[in-house]
Amino acid sequence: MNIFRTKSIEQSIADTDEPEYQLNKSLTALDLTVFGVGVVIGAGIFTLTGRVAHQMTGPAIILSFIIAAFGCALAAMCYAEFASTVPVSGSAYTFSYASLGEIVAWIIGWDLILEMFLGASVVAQGWSAYLGVFLEKIGIILPPQISYGGPVDLVAVSLILVLGTLVTVGIKESMRVNMVLVAVKLFIVLFVIFAGLAFVDAGNYAPFIPEPMATETTQGWTQPLLQFLTGSAPLAFGWSGVLTGAALVFFAYIGFDVVATTAEETKNPQRDLPIGIIASLVICTVLYCAVALVVTGMVPYDQLDPKAALANAFAHHGQNWMATLIAAGAVAGLTTVVLTLLIGATRIIFAMSRDNLLPMRIAQVHPRFRTPWLITMGVTVVCAVIAGVTPVGVLEEMINIGTLSAFILVSIAVPVLRKKRPDLKRAFQVPFSPVVALALGGGVRLPDAQPDH
Ligand code: ALA
Repeated sequence: MNIFRTKSIEQSIADTDEPEYQLNKSLTALDLTVFGVGVVIGAGIFTLTGRVAHQMTGPAIILSFIIAAFGCALAAMCYAEFASTVPVSGSAYTFSYASLGEIVAWIIGWDLILEMFLGASVVAQGWSAYLGVFLEKIGIILPPQISYGGPVDLVAVSLILVLGTLVTVGIKESMRVNMVLVAVKLFIVLFVIFAGLAFVDAGNYAPFIPEPMATETTQGWTQPLLQFLTGSAPLAFGWSGVLTGAALVFFAYIGFDVVATTAEETKNPQRDLPIGIIASLVICTVLYCAVALVVTGMVPYDQLDPKAALANAFAHHGQNWMATLIAAGAVAGLTTVVLTLLIGATRIIFAMSRDNLLPMRIAQVHPRFRTPWLITMGVTVVCAVIAGVTPVGVLEEMINIGTLSAFILVSIAVPVLRKKRPDLKRAFQVPFSPVVALALGGGVRLPDAQPDH
């Protein structure tokens, strides 16, 4: 058996026509953009922004967002080209199977599964935290044993169970719920931007990039690789802080790649997938930069709340009802992220088991719901357990690194597939390939730059 054998594009596409494994093709470019924005805007902007601005970058966090967006844009173009050439469920997994071979596909498949399992679990815990904050603001206190930070986070578990059931019952229905929640989330993000403008004080932007200074950092396994190798003192602020910040806020952009996992459920994948992927990234970049600018303008960076900065920037100005509204919006916003990551995880496992890299039996589609119900139920139970009992912490960083590995492989796979199969129709092409792909691979020093806690 040759572990480097590749799976032909024609075979991948033919597999999707087997009635037993056929999914319902109902999604449009708009659905995909909503799906993308739904999964991308989440814990990254609602929680991470405050922490990074407070500890590492100051008001220059907007530069971190721009740098991270630039890297993501390179990857997004590679994903778009692939999705328009290989319109099959499975995203980076399917792409690397078509170009780099089975073993790489298997590794990247597991990488993506773990990324999405951990992602869904982490964001579910964040959801539980925000729900706690919201309920507290309206006078309800949850028992600490079963809520965020307690021994078993039953609040996060219930969220995953409800969403898992929804995904089993049907993707179109999940999309409808998603659409409503994404609308609420966008409203909240726009609310932060426009309502926040009134409280911006230009004085808070000075110094824009605070002087570098030694900060407290984690040691041992979690210290930055560069710091470990050079033995240098841990620094934040200054340009080094901006770059470290970019490595962290990268988390906020994760998810546009998940759009590619819905290829088989899209009506016209060649056209709609590139639109969905690139449009979600552009929308999120603009919103993130605006939020970053407003929030760091509202509160001096050293007074930003590292946990719930968006809500508490308004509390800082005595606007408690606005803070409560934002906490409620964050609850809605994080729901869609968990939902989409659950769907993404099931679709990757679906693609792998159809290829027999995981047991084939589990990929059967439910006769009535037309969803891979066995996989969905399995994913739901595992994520519920992880979300329920794992302490929150370094998981976000593991997710960043996992995602970056997938990005790099996909960017290598683009020129490889062009060379191997120049004949394929490519509805979208990465400009200046392979330069763009190499820029992504070469530019990735991000995993070195780990955050401090
Ligand atoms: N981008 C997603 C978030 O920020 C993972 O929650």
